[in-house]
Amino acid sequence: MTIYNLGSINADNVYRVSHLVGPGETLAATDLTQGLGGKGANMSVAAARAAARVVHIGAVGPDGRWAVERLLEYGVDTRHIGEVQVPTGHANICVDTNGENAIVVFSGANHAISEAMIGAALSEASAGDFFVTQNETNGQAKAVKMAKRLGLRVTYAAAPFDATAVSAVLDDLDLLVLNEVEADQLAKETGSNLDDLPVSDIVVTLGAKGCRWVPKGSAPQGFPAVKVDAIDTTGAGDTFTGYLIAGLDRGMPMPQAIDLATRAAALMVTRMGTADVIPDLKELEDQRLG
Ligand code: RIB
Repeated sequence: MTIYNLGSINADNVYRVSHLVGPGETLAATDLTQGLGGKGANMSVAAARAAARVVHIGAVGPDGRWAVERLLEYGVDTRHIGEVQVPTGHANICVDTNGENAIVVFSGANHAISEAMIGAALSEASAGDFFVTQNETNGQAKAVKMAKRLGLRVTYAAAPFDATAVSAVLDDLDLLVLNEVEADQLAKETGSNLDDLPVSDIVVTLGAKGCRWVPKGSAPQGFPAVKVDAIDTTGAGDTFTGYLIAGLDRGMPMPQAIDLATRAAALMVTRMGTADVIPDLKELEDQRLG
């Protein structure tokens, strides 16, 4: 089947710093790397590296043609990425010596995606395909409705977290992926426990503690993380989600898809950067053997 991803495309500037900068502070970075990013693009690349067929729906400005070419090189179908007269989105990412990050995002073209662009892409979809989106583009709520109506399996990665944005799509979701803090915020916002939400499957990522799967109507199940020395956690959550849906799309049961996604995210945190360093299936296999 195919994964349709309405997602952001950013130019990532990744600065290595001694510590995350405080208010009023000026800090010299010790290193700079630039590459492809955006939570959407990262998920598309992760799913493609997990051998899924991925169609990315998004937008760049004239300065972002390189990003579209790079997605194509990574095996993503880019026919539904439009060029608009707005600068391409970018992110300035600081990573400290513990691998923690702080990110400032400029949305740019990611907020100039027309309903017609989304409709054109989804008109090619078939029932049973996956649809995934995150909170870095415009058009999420309408796209989710459209995808649901067409019979796609609708996934929402609630990042960056905004309770109103999640609430707007909640009724049409099949799968929701979010972290522990976000899960608490959502529970507060909706006044419901996670297992009372109208979503068949919820996966709560817990960082170094692994993740929890909350299937509707059954007991939650915990999954451990793989122990690694993290040097950069940026994009690890996106890698997890991309691999998770790629696994489910291939027909894996949830526990097996979670195992695959957990191993991919673990390898990802040992690398500096975002989309350009997401591991492929062979690297995961080599790591298991090594
Ligand atoms: O999740 C990491 C991503 O967040 C980065 O690639 C950056 O572009 C921001 O969107």
